[in-house]
Amino acid sequence: MDVLLAVREWGETRWLARLRPLLPDREILTPETLKDHASVRYGLSWRHRPGEFQKLPNLLAIFSLGAGVDHTLADPDLPNVPLVRVIDPDLTTRMSEWVALQTLLHFRQFSRYDRQQREKVWAEDEDQAAAHEARVGILGLGVMGMDAARKLQTLGFDVSGWTRTARKIHGLTAFHGPDGLDELLERTDILVSLLPLTSETRGLINRDLIAKLARDGKIGGPFLIAAGRGGSQVEADSVEALKSGALKGASLDVFESEPLPKSSPLWDLPNVYISPHNAGVSHPNAVARYVAAQILSFERGEPLQNVVDRARGY
Ligand code: NDP
Ligand code: OXD
Repeated sequence: MDVLLAVREWGETRWLARLRPLLPDREILTPETLKDHASVRYGLSWRHRPGEFQKLPNLLAIFSLGAGVDHTLADPDLPNVPLVRVIDPDLTTRMSEWVALQTLLHFRQFSRYDRQQREKVWAEDEDQAAAHEARVGILGLGVMGMDAARKLQTLGFDVSGWTRTARKIHGLTAFHGPDGLDELLERTDILVSLLPLTSETRGLINRDLIAKLARDGKIGGPFLIAAGRGGSQVEADSVEALKSGALKGASLDVFESEPLPKSSPLWDLPNVYISPHNAGVSHPNAVARYVAAQILSFERGEPLQNVVDRARGY
């Protein structure tokens, strides 16, 4: 009944210290300490090395230690057992805080007033738009996208969203599929991406997509806010759009390559806010408790929760 923890760049020793008291009657192993492959029933993954869960004949399930599973599914040798992802109200709440913050920064022209403060300039925009005049389009209305949508609506924004499958959502205009995407873009001043990274969403936010965003809005956009996955953006196209004015500003939490290289032009562009992939972090203690609780309930005969559909990739 052992557990194999395969994490990269995320404090392996601290994960071991968290998990051991929660699952005291079993070994928590790492790829380096693993000897008896047949003893492993559960795999815990964060950016694990491809092949690390191979040749575990009694493996029952793999847990991604995050909400996204692209890092786990990238392993061509991933065993065909249920893959569970994190859904955690704390994580969702934090993501919505970040999305609301970034939306407000652009909508209320924070960089302008910040600059004015530094220059000791007292000048206001007499034509500041009202929130209901700002059209926010959210790519992805899953756990994160829906929560962010509702909170932005509470702030008064005119919110719509885009999904893969057709959805009827009370009080919210939802588009789906490729045609629906164009419809959403032409009525969007602030584009928020909360999409998972799949073969369909890779490179989606590119020059062509940016060109389709509304330019007739009251808030002087368009703006891009991205916290899904960096692979959904063509970063060079965003840089070009920010330089040319095709995008008036951006807030980026995820990047094609992380950490964002110091050489990236994004660091120095005006009206661009960068955060280090921490828009929606859940505390590792909460994730450890979530995984341990799922293992224990599964062993009592209850079904695993939040199992990923591997065919659709999220
Ligand atoms: P969900 O699986 O709950 O929702 C995904 C949404 O994306 C669904 O609405 C889905 O549509 C939509 N979608 C997927 N593929 C497509 C497509 N091809 N076209 C249109 N819509 C599509 O995911 P979460 O909301 O929990 O999380 C979203 C992502 O956020 C994660 O996968 C992860 O990458 C990222 N994330 C980032 C964090 C950060 O700190 N930056 C923290 C946590 C997550 P449908 O409803 O039709 O299925
Ligand atoms: C996640 C993330 O997927 O942190 O949870 O990006």
